[in-house]
Amino acid sequence: MTPIFKKIAIASDHAGFALKKDFIETLESLAITVMDLGTFSEESTDYPDFAHKVVGSILKEEAQAGVLICGTGIGMSIAANRHSRIRAAVCNEGTTSARLARAHNNANILCLGERLIGPEAAKDTLFTFVTTPFDAGERHQRRLNKIG
Ligand code: RB5
Repeated sequence: MTPIFKKIAIASDHAGFALKKDFIETLESLAITVMDLGTFSEESTDYPDFAHKVVGSILKEEAQAGVLICGTGIGMSIAANRHSRIRAAVCNEGTTSARLARAHNNANILCLGERLIGPEAAKDTLFTFVTTPFDAGERHQRRLNKIG
């Protein structure tokens, strides 16, 4: 399957740092251009700083989609979803969540928790997210319009 995004912004806090490194390799192997917006070490950091950076790159149309990783994915999603035009989905359950987040919700940020999902499941989830198109049916778009 071919990725539907050509440019993706990625960031993590310290708790998602190791998985972010793996993800950059995976995305680049799919010929996706990756903007790595940090963090760049395992030193303790604050996840909202990184969520807002990835959101900024999407809103400025520097990236088409984003990936945010923290310990649970939850803090990142809460921070990212403060912004309109952002639909950040926590998909620790795996590929089914990622597929439906794209197909039904047109999610533009994948959030994962490195402490909750194993590396292989995380990689499969990432692949599903970047290869699943929005099912642009009238009912899904109508519901997204109601989010505002
Ligand atoms: C950091 O310890 C942790 O709280 C953070 O990575 C994240 O899981 C928050 O939602």
